[in-house]
Amino acid sequence: MSSIIHQIILIGSMGAGKSTVGRRLAARLSVPCVDLDAVIVEHAGCSIPKIFEGQGEAAFRALESEYLKTLCEDGNHKVLATGGGAVLSEANRHVMQQSGFVIWLDAKPEVLAKRISGDRNRPLLKGVPPLQRARELDAQRRPLYKACSDLRIDTAKYRVPQTIRTILEAIKI
Ligand code: S3P
Repeated sequence: MSSIIHQIILIGSMGAGKSTVGRRLAARLSVPCVDLDAVIVEHAGCSIPKIFEGQGEAAFRALESEYLKTLCEDGNHKVLATGGGAVLSEANRHVMQQSGFVIWLDAKPEVLAKRISGDRNRPLLKGVPPLQRARELDAQRRPLYKACSDLRIDTAKYRVPQTIRTILEAIKI
């Protein structure tokens, strides 16, 4: 990875492809891919749905902010895949902007809803039709993704290999 950009941070809604693109991009750059949700689960010792059920969303957001800051500021070369709600906090947006090249993997709610329907590991989908939830989250978060990102990629238009090529071109590798 270039010495100027030591860290790429992927943001975007559930179903945008952050984990898949993160893994493939990291392999291409020969750096680790770190998944923020996986780090939270490892430290909490239980799944994300269990954290939401047992401790509530606010507790999950506190863990998310804590580990996001730690990972962003650890100085290690990596691709960091965040959870869809990581942009909700202004402090999180600030820390991401300060510590890496932030890429927004974007797609319309209609596309996202198809990708995430039937997923039981995402508590925000519980009891609400996926398209309705995807639209609500899009309305709330689209301006935040926009404000916080250095690059936006429409993942409905590009397949994963083309997304990777676009990112490599943007960071001049
Ligand atoms: C969330 C997205 C999830 C996970 C949690 C909350 C959100 O991550 O962090 O369920 O608020 O959009 P993915 O975007 O990887 O699904």
